[in-house]
Amino acid sequence: MRIIAVMNQKGGVGKTTTSVNLAAGLAAQGRKVCLVDLDPQGHASLHVGEEAYNGTATIYDVFAGTRTFSQSKKLVDSNLWVIPSNIDLAAAEVELSGEDRKEFILKEAMESDPEVQSLDYVIFDCPPSLGVLTINALTAATEVFIPLQPHFLALQGLSKLFETTALVKRRLNRNLTVSGVVLCLYETGTRLAQDITDDLFNFLSQSDPGSPWSQAKIFDSRIRRNIKLAEAPSFGKPIFEYEPKCAGAIDYNNLSSEVIEQEAALNQSSPATSPSLPESSLSATPQFSPEMPEQSDLLLPESENDGDRISEAA
Ligand SMILES: Nc1ncnc2c1ncn2[C@@H]1O[C@H](COP(=O)(O)OP(=O)(O)OP(=O)(O)O)[C@@H](O)[C@H]1O
Ligand SMILES: [Mg+2]
Repeated sequence: MRIIAVMNQKGGVGKTTTSVNLAAGLAAQGRKVCLVDLDPQGHASLHVGEEAYNGTATIYDVFAGTRTFSQSKKLVDSNLWVIPSNIDLAAAEVELSGEDRKEFILKEAMESDPEVQSLDYVIFDCPPSLGVLTINALTAATEVFIPLQPHFLALQGLSKLFETTALVKRRLNRNLTVSGVVLCLYETGTRLAQDITDDLFNFLSQSDPGSPWSQAKIFDSRIRRNIKLAEAPSFGKPIFEYEPKCAGAIDYNNLSSEVIEQEAALNQSSPATSPSLPESSLSATPQFSPEMPEQSDLLLPESENDGDRISEAA
């Protein structure tokens, strides 16, 4: 099973559009997929036609411990389930603030639920922040996909995002890797989009082999700007149902195929043998932005880490 957090703290870069249409594309290619809406805005839920009213099972119930992961998921299409969210989830940020092991709630809910293993993919649509919901996604995930809009501010903030994955890998989830960058809202034929793609490619190819992003693939499938992708959410349908022949459907179908192609390589590299993160990799800050992140106060102090403790110097 692949557990993928679709994450970028920048807003409006295509996280939800990618989470929903990738989930639908993978389901259409025969994979059993659960899309988890981790954003209190509930956009991914609405995009697959689920409005979570009072009493609807949501991901909030999983955080509150009142429903299991499987009890909260709903079948919305063949092979495709969703765990929706609504504004209630915003309260979780506050309610969890004083809890022990708040970063592990989602991971533990999934691990203690035997039905989860029957899925091939779990896809988390993260909110545009690095708060406790995103940290839960990164702790439960095995992989991170970063949607990126290639304009000139796109790479700003990427160092913070990469460093957050490094911190989570060191302290909370040693198996975490950034395995893909999805170029969204891509303006075909523009010099700027190509320049930014080249910068990113150079950075990734020079990264420390121990960093979580050293194996990140910039997917060949670029998601072009396509008005049908912007229209589909208001009809509560993934793009394949809304307009199956449009450029957006073609791009997300290609992306889904590329993601499936990664499976063979991933099956070969067992997590137990994945390289641990050397301390030096924290200095491998992306050259395009000098900023270093402040350590999130959401990350447990080393001494409180679970039994599977990750050594600082490992
Ligand atoms: N390739 C595309 N072509 C046209 N419109 C797009 C494309 N991708 C996304 N959009 C539109 O851009 C807007 C932002 O996309 P989306 O909601 O996926 O971003 P997000 O990163 O999830 O945003 P947020 O940070 O608010 O969660 C939406 O209106 C969406 O429909
Ligand atoms: Mg979103």
